[in-house]
Amino acid sequence: MTLNIALKHEIDHSYPIHIDPLSTLHFKGKVAIITNPKVAGLHLGYLLSRLSADECYVVTVPDGEQHKGLQTIEYILDRLFEHRLNRKSLLIAFGGGVIGDMCGFAAGIYQRGIDFVQIPTTLLSQVDASVGGKTGINNRFGKNLVGLFHQPKAVYIDPYFLSSLPPREFAAGVAEMLKMAVTFDAAFFDWLDAHDLREPEHLKTAIKQAVRIKAEVVAQDEKEQGLRAALNYGHTFGHVIENETAYTRFLHGETVAIGMVMANEVACELGMMSPHEAMRVKALLERYGLPVHYGIKDVEAFYDAFFLDKKSSDHSITFIIPQGIGGVALRDDIDAALIKGVLARYSEV
Ligand code: GLY
Repeated sequence: MTLNIALKHEIDHSYPIHIDPLSTLHFKGKVAIITNPKVAGLHLGYLLSRLSADECYVVTVPDGEQHKGLQTIEYILDRLFEHRLNRKSLLIAFGGGVIGDMCGFAAGIYQRGIDFVQIPTTLLSQVDASVGGKTGINNRFGKNLVGLFHQPKAVYIDPYFLSSLPPREFAAGVAEMLKMAVTFDAAFFDWLDAHDLREPEHLKTAIKQAVRIKAEVVAQDEKEQGLRAALNYGHTFGHVIENETAYTRFLHGETVAIGMVMANEVACELGMMSPHEAMRVKALLERYGLPVHYGIKDVEAFYDAFFLDKKSSDHSITFIIPQGIGGVALRDDIDAALIKGVLARYSEV
């Protein structure tokens, strides 16, 4: 006998993304703010002055991608149980992409899932990581290999937080904006090429456009069945670099920058991008002080690591390759020799 469980309900997961100075957030129930000591030191007072809740707890976890692991998740969950948060409670991700990923993951699994909101404080998390509900952690096999899709209830993007951002963090966010321009919006790329984002008004315009692109892509393909994978342009290479360097040498956005340059070289080899276009992208990355080179010690090992990428299967690796500036293709048919040829140009030995 076969029984059927009917689960075809439509659930509306739509949520607002506010791009404005933070207004007062009211919440009936318990709230836990997940943050790190650096963000708490700089901005917790600002957040608390705009938050009203029945009970509010602050859980601080160590800063940095190298701490985005199961141990930290256990630590967060323990604090939530100690404070007796329940299914009606709310988590607030208050920090950069690492905090957002971990807070979202903890919210997704705590008592089988509670609500959370994102208040991103870095440029990278404002323009990319906080939107779209990707949550998770790294393990020794690679980056973001454990996690779930759990959409926030709202995202609050307040450019005020960026005033204290170190230049490297700022540039890392610019890399993600360039990613979106190169893959989806040639006019945005030209605009970025012509405007200095260190100018606050230009920055705000760019944030809005990047978030608009991200939101449109996520709305079409929430669970990354196709189109959304294009947002991983630069990441297939970048994740390997991050893992090889133990998440300590580069910021995530910096490895995306290097990965974009590598992907562009593959695109040039395939005739999908002209050397002039590749040069424009590289020059713009360099203008913001982003790294564009990485010394590969073992090309074969670097290539093998692609098989752990979530887009890969046993026999093929999916690469996100730009189609000129403003277009993109997902390619799982690229000859290994061509990819290894590009990687060999970065070989240190
Ligand atoms: N950061 C890529 C994505 O959210 O799909």
